[in-house]
Amino acid sequence: MTSQTATGAGAGTPDEPEATRRAAGVAESARANRGWWDRNADEYQVEHGTFLGDDRFVWCPEGLDEVEAELLGPAEQLAGRPVLEIGAGAAQCSRWLAAQGAHPVALDLSHRQLQHALRIGATFPLVCADAGALPFADASFDLACSAYGALPFVADPVLVLREVRRVLRPGGRFVFSVTHPIRWAFPDEPGPEGLSVAASYFDRTPYVEQDDAGRAVYVEHHRTLGDRVRDIVTAGFRLVDLVEPEWPSWNTSEWGGWSPLRGNLIPGTAIFVCVRD
Ligand SMILES: C[S@@+](CC[C@H](N)C(=O)[O-])C[C@H]1O[C@@H](n2cnc3c(N)ncnc32)[C@H](O)[C@@H]1O
Repeated sequence: MTSQTATGAGAGTPDEPEATRRAAGVAESARANRGWWDRNADEYQVEHGTFLGDDRFVWCPEGLDEVEAELLGPAEQLAGRPVLEIGAGAAQCSRWLAAQGAHPVALDLSHRQLQHALRIGATFPLVCADAGALPFADASFDLACSAYGALPFVADPVLVLREVRRVLRPGGRFVFSVTHPIRWAFPDEPGPEGLSVAASYFDRTPYVEQDDAGRAVYVEHHRTLGDRVRDIVTAGFRLVDLVEPEWPSWNTSEWGGWSPLRGNLIPGTAIFVCVRD
């Protein structure tokens, strides 16, 4: 299996990290992923920047756009609202939110990703921090969102969800997208080899790339669909929707293991819509 979310470093040669499945805790995962995204932010933005667009809000490799999805609510109701974007990367989503008149704050673990946000012209606050320890007062935001940011990478998703709930006002909404859990049972390949089950869906052992000394340099954490629902409820949210975007006919692009071939057969993304009562 290769990584589901980023273009993983791969396995095997002396210069490359070894890909394995093993335990990885909160601190090790955060340290590894901060380093990975700092080292790979430039390549990620070159590879995916055009698809993401500098000021579009794209939820996933399927290309679902917030303009049509309105998962955060009608666009005309975003004006004036404080919104936290978690794992923002170059903060393209926050740029779209700002264009609607919202007041976004874009947070990411990777300093280099946030430098790309500056490069494409972010005019709102950028915060370099871990999603598991949000540096904001309680009830600071009306909305929070995350397009594949943080949640696929953290060892303790309930910690992150609790933090997001804490900084939301009552009635606030958190919408986040992650790799659809079913994808973990399949090789992360865009072609036919990516259509045969190769691992147990129920095996939560993290995907880890590690260096010669056994230090993790990249980590992804798997949760089953039931785990995700349980995490959301345990953190105190009410789950109001689970969106599984279908692969649209206009999207002919491949992104890691995402492709029209696989997208037409199995879901690639799960988007959870949660309310803080
Ligand atoms: C797949 S990228 C998604 C970025 C952006 N939403 C996009 O669609 O391009 C994942 C992002 O999550 C960030 N990230 C990973 N772990 C994090 C954590 N614990 N706290 C905050 N951000 C994190 C990474 O630095 C990276 O920028």
